[in-house]
Amino acid sequence: MEKVRLQKFMAEAGVASRRKSEELIAKGHVRVNGKIVTEMGIKVDHQDKIEVDGMPLEEEKKRYILMYKPRGVISAVTDDKKRKVVTDLLEDVQERVYPIGRLDYDTSGLLLLTNDGEFANHLMHPRYHVEKTYVAKIEGVLTTEEIKKLEGGIKLKGFTTAKAKVKVMSKDKKKNSSIVRITIHEGHNHQVKNMFDAVGHKVEKLARESYGFLTLDGLVSGKYRNLTRQEVAELKKDNK
Ligand code: URA
Repeated sequence: MEKVRLQKFMAEAGVASRRKSEELIAKGHVRVNGKIVTEMGIKVDHQDKIEVDGMPLEEEKKRYILMYKPRGVISAVTDDKKRKVVTDLLEDVQERVYPIGRLDYDTSGLLLLTNDGEFANHLMHPRYHVEKTYVAKIEGVLTTEEIKKLEGGIKLKGFTTAKAKVKVMSKDKKKNSSIVRITIHEGHNHQVKNMFDAVGHKVEKLARESYGFLTLDGLVSGKYRNLTRQEVAELKKDNK
């Protein structure tokens, strides 16, 4: 493991958030190799002996969870408005896991959670082109021209989307809606909704059905499972 900043190391070991860890350091609660450290620059790894108020840090077991997120739950570990968050759905998970990226409050589907910061950063790095497939119920029916735009790259606020795949699964002319499967490689906030908005179709319902090779097979909404060792190893590879 490469050396990381002390506050990051503490956060990953489950002591407190990075901000709270900085406070603990600044207030002199933290010793590194026997010496109290109060400045933020210092970098550490597992060779270093770190103590908070005299208690040695124990590393948390790494957890990798695949959840079927229901609608109406926030992809976070806390919420100011006291709404339900995804970690509320976890039973018997003691480790401080958090979601990798996010799905909107009203989006359901596949969400990964972990307490492995390196793993989360790896998957969220733009270089890691993992395919994410969503099924969207949209208002109206896409024209061939609109499908081409969505697939070829579309200008959103501040960036142009990478190539995408779009497949119309069904159309309901009477109800003026369609079901569309869309596969994208990026993970900007509200990206799918914004892409459909940009071609004039509001998303009424959205679900993420796969993330790379991972699917929701065997899970019902609100449930989760651990990733297997092989799945974790596969995700750690550079899928450039
Ligand atoms: N795109 C969106 O618009 N919302 C999500 O939750 C995920 C992708």
